[in-house]
Amino acid sequence: MTKPENVTPSPVNIGLPAGKMPQLRVMPAPSDANVYGDVFGGWIMAQVDIAGSLPATRRANGRVATIAVNSFLFKNPVFVGDLLSFYADIVKVGNTSITVYVEVYAERNRLAADTVKVTEATLTYVATGEDRKPRQLPPLESLLHV
Ligand SMILES: CC(C)(COP(=O)(O)OP(=O)(O)OC[C@H]1O[C@@H](n2cnc3c(N)ncnc32)[C@H](O)[C@@H]1OP(=O)(O)O)[C@@H](O)C(=O)NCCC(=O)NCCS
Repeated sequence: MTKPENVTPSPVNIGLPAGKMPQLRVMPAPSDANVYGDVFGGWIMAQVDIAGSLPATRRANGRVATIAVNSFLFKNPVFVGDLLSFYADIVKVGNTSITVYVEVYAERNRLAADTVKVTEATLTYVATGEDRKPRQLPPLESLLHV
């Protein structure tokens, strides 16, 4: 009889921020890569914009438009097959604007044990009305979930 292999279970989410929920989890496909096989920065920027817009939309209780990308850092490359987790936190709120800090972590080959922070960015969104003009943010107390 063969002895069972001594398999250590894969640790779960080592390296991902503890106690936080990602806004988005996405795996880039070959069609998202450049000719060198790394993922396009523009594809990552689009996902960051989507992830950042989610807490902004909840805070605005309605539609928002991206007015500024204040900073963007591609600290490490992203590869096809990485599992990306996008974390987004509101860092500043004005009359009509919401500024969000987004961090992106890659689990290399979908292995949580090999996690790398790949990107961080700060974006500003503006709450807009049906007319696409800036709209005053609702008071925090009027919102059920932010
Ligand atoms: C978003 C939009 C409606 C805002 O209208 P606007 O007249 O330019 O806005 P305002 O000058 O009144 O500024 C609105 C808010 O944005 C802030 N803001 C303006 N320029 C900014 C900048 N460069 N960086 C950060 N915040 C900025 C202002 O401080 C203000 O915030 P506050 O009300 O909290 O004080 C308009 O700029 C627009 O339609 N832009 C195109 C949006 C778009 O197509 N995005 C891509 C797809 S979503």
